[in-house]
Amino acid sequence: QAIYVLNGPNLNLLGKREPGIYGKQTLDDVRQLCESVADQSGLKVVFRQSNAEHELIDWIHEARESAQGIIINPAAYTHTSIAILDALSACSFPVIEVHISNIHKRESFRHHSYVSARADAVIAGCGVHGYQLAMQHMATLVGGG
Ligand code: DQA
Repeated sequence: QAIYVLNGPNLNLLGKREPGIYGKQTLDDVRQLCESVADQSGLKVVFRQSNAEHELIDWIHEARESAQGIIINPAAYTHTSIAILDALSACSFPVIEVHISNIHKRESFRHHSYVSARADAVIAGCGVHGYQLAMQHMATLVGGG
């Protein structure tokens, strides 16, 4: 059993993309942060990124069958995807939503999240450290902490 850490569109460019907003650390750095918390907590991590909505949905379905929880940064799909919300709503384990930036401090179209209607916790504005916080909180929720 594992924690799925799922990342949405354009996060493959983390570190290169708008570093003033998203920082200089890459998605591979984020993967390592998550893996080190998992190691300390006796958890496994399945860490993935996709630019395609259907792929994220398929991975949520996969997690539904096999995982203990999902940490998801849906990126721009946060603000558009009822389909990702519905997929997460079909899961009965903890869901934590992460945003690197503080979406509430940015353009008004980023203020609403469809995913928050299902998320048990939301972390925004902590930079990539938010993933570490999410992993630590997930560990307490699933008994790995
Ligand atoms: C983001 C915030 C979203 O509004 C944006 O579309 C992203 C990244 C974040 O991590 O801060 O791609 O989810």
